[in-house]
Amino acid sequence: MEAILKKKILFVDDEPNVLNGLRRMLRGMRKEWEMHFAEGGEEALELLKNSQFDVIVSDMRMPGMDGAELLSRVMKQYPEVVRIVLSGHSDKEMILRSVRPAQQYLSKPCDTKTLKSTIDRACALRDILVDESLKKVVSGLDTLPSMPELYQEILNELQSDDPSIQRVGDIISKDVGMTAKILQLVNSAFFGLPRHISNPQQAVTLLGLETVKALVLSVQVFSQFDNANIPRKFMDALWHHSINTGKIIREIVKTEGVEKNLADDTFMAALLHDVGKLILAASFAEIYRELIKGNEQTKTPLRHAEQAQFGTTHAEVGAYLMGLWGLPDNIVEALAFHHRPAECPVERFAPLTAVHVASVLEHESNPGEETDYSAELDMGHLAKLGLEPRLKCWKDLITDLSHYSH
Ligand SMILES: [Fe+2]
Ligand SMILES: [Fe+2]
Repeated sequence: MEAILKKKILFVDDEPNVLNGLRRMLRGMRKEWEMHFAEGGEEALELLKNSQFDVIVSDMRMPGMDGAELLSRVMKQYPEVVRIVLSGHSDKEMILRSVRPAQQYLSKPCDTKTLKSTIDRACALRDILVDESLKKVVSGLDTLPSMPELYQEILNELQSDDPSIQRVGDIISKDVGMTAKILQLVNSAFFGLPRHISNPQQAVTLLGLETVKALVLSVQVFSQFDNANIPRKFMDALWHHSINTGKIIREIVKTEGVEKNLADDTFMAALLHDVGKLILAASFAEIYRELIKGNEQTKTPLRHAEQAQFGTTHAEVGAYLMGLWGLPDNIVEALAFHHRPAECPVERFAPLTAVHVASVLEHESNPGEETDYSAELDMGHLAKLGLEPRLKCWKDLITDLSHYSH
């Protein structure tokens, strides 16, 4: 039998005591992990130069080269190495948002179980994104869409020292077409707002920055494909499916009492979950039209045809692009695994779970408006997270929603 391939992991910390602590704590992992320890950025880079690692786990505050600098160098020189921050600082959000080169954040002290599940999860995502067929498809694309400029401007504003709702509204208002689409969406039955919204500032005030940010990104992504030779009917149906999935997800996270950041990521993931279909349909127009046609006859999920044709599916392609744009791993993971959540080692409610469920239920509740034929719900995944009993309640929410909007 072939030996199990060990993951090769590099731990970096300027404190020898912390490294020794990790060494002791992780002794039991030696069968699965080959562990190396470096007392700073320079030493870490030296080790990376000489052999291939799967994961780097670095401290943030270190004399000389700090964690942020080290990880951004690793990102540039060794993009396939999974980057994790293990830091003593308390403000996780601040670190995650400002230190783009980190994919995951863990705070000290951290137990073996958490460390292991974080590493497994990040590696599962990495593995899906370095797949050869996916790489072949992606490198065959004429152009990979770039992150929409307006969205980048909003991000910059949100990351500034003193972000303002007024300025975010102003940024959106500059684009008349965009503003019209957002207002139309916000005033539709979708949000069920008590009054008419007449400008982006109001939308931000009522719905929150993160929600509007997600709407802006998805409206922009879809409009990038407006002239891309994709059948109109397909695009419209896909837009509706995405928006409706978002709508269902807003209800699910509300009833589950999901914490705000996670809820925001979940909503964003819902709106973008099938974006890979746009990329494939635009880049391989002829072939994809045939796939859609064939799919209408066989009434099977489109991704089976994609898999046969490209060796990969819209799920991986979409995830790849969003990863490239620097969206949080939570979202990228939800896109990548939305048809096969069981293959992702999550242990509690994640955006992935909600996107999987909502997308399937949306297809079921909207049989007249198909962009695709729905897959089965992965009951095993729900059972593992202890969420199986919640399904009935989620289905009821959707029934209520469709009464509401008609
Ligand atoms: Fe999908
Ligand atoms: Fe979907």
